[in-house]
Amino acid sequence: MDVSPNGLAKTNRLAEKRGVTIETIEADLNDFVFPEPMDVVYSIGTVQYLQPENWKRGFERFRRGTALGGVHVIFAFVDHPSVPTPPDWTESEFFYAVGELRGYYADWEVLDGREMILEDDSGGEAHDHAAEVLVVRNPDEPG
Ligand SMILES: C[S@@+](CC[C@H](N)C(=O)[O-])C[C@H]1O[C@@H](n2cnc3c(N)ncnc32)[C@H](O)[C@@H]1O
Repeated sequence: MDVSPNGLAKTNRLAEKRGVTIETIEADLNDFVFPEPMDVVYSIGTVQYLQPENWKRGFERFRRGTALGGVHVIFAFVDHPSVPTPPDWTESEFFYAVGELRGYYADWEVLDGREMILEDDSGGEAHDHAAEVLVVRNPDEPG
């Protein structure tokens, strides 16, 4: 799922090249509803486009759209005290607070959680990104 038709076209090209069957959906994360219960939600560097007023509601929607026992793998950029806002950060992106992501999954099992600082030179200027990866599992039994 991506809001960009170009991004989805690239995804389809790569899948075809690698002999993988996929289905892409063009949608905005801010009002996206999973078309059917998901077993795995894998999101790398995209939840920063969820507007802050949609965080609570958005994660609740993603959780509700996930099968019992299903897993979410979420990579999110975070506001870290020692990492300045990167030069490639845009007005439509929003940092999460350190540790905030876990709060949206309070009743899910945490399989892995880690913080990282990544070096990047996209845009031609070396800079760092602070990020968190959270791997969580929807309990088999409703809580
Ligand atoms: C940093 S890229 C990550 C792409 C992909 N996850 C990857 O690892 O290659 C961020 C992606 O978020 C998409 N995006 C931006 N705003 C979005 C929105 N409101 N809803 C859904 N996707 C959005 C962009 O088109 C872009 O493909």
